[in-house]
Amino acid sequence: MEKINIGVQGFTLPMPQTILGCRQDGRNNFMALAWTSRVNYNPSLMMISVGKKHFSNSAIKATGEFSVNIPSIEMLEITDFVGLVSGSKLDKSDLFEVHKGELENAPVIANCPVGMECKVFDSIELPNDTLFVGEVIATWCNDDVLTEGIPDIKKVNPFTLTMPDNRYWSVGECVGKAWHDGKKLK
Ligand SMILES: Cc1cc2nc3c(=O)[nH]c(=O)nc-3n(C[C@H](O)[C@H](O)[C@H](O)COP(=O)(O)O)c2cc1C
Repeated sequence: MEKINIGVQGFTLPMPQTILGCRQDGRNNFMALAWTSRVNYNPSLMMISVGKKHFSNSAIKATGEFSVNIPSIEMLEITDFVGLVSGSKLDKSDLFEVHKGELENAPVIANCPVGMECKVFDSIELPNDTLFVGEVIATWCNDDVLTEGIPDIKKVNPFTLTMPDNRYWSVGECVGKAWHDGKKLK
């Protein structure tokens, strides 16, 4: 097998597909967000990377709050839509029903099975994007996606993204148990 250098491309395969929620001047805004990850255990910190030209970027800077919502496959089209149109051109506030949580400016999407309210903990200005680190203040789950109190991926039915081919994917089968299956090799 030959290794080929395909150029300068940062990869995770796949990326989680989420919807970022924020609020500015009393108006909720939502955008498709794939560049997100949990980055600290305690406190629970999430990172999001948001383009500097996006409406959401200035909204988060103004309020210091945002939400990260995990849509199910049934919400694929509306998720894509909020990734195509900017809040500076279109009022996207009416696209989703919002669950009233703990924070004023971190709208949790009622229809998304999982949603986290976050307060900005830190941020780094990168050349094109701002990397916001948010402390999770509350995690809201629809009760029908929980199994023994934990979000069940089969019930949440999330979807993922690959770039640069820009395709959405469903999640496959469970193939192992983490912090366990490697023990055989000890
Ligand atoms: C599938 C998908 C994933 C995206 N992921 C991100 C992302 O992680 N970060 C980002 O800054 N923009 C991302 N975008 C682009 C923004 O969602 C898009 O530019 C949006 O219109 C910005 O909205 P706003 O101006 O209302 O904030 C993504 C778009 C799509 C379609």
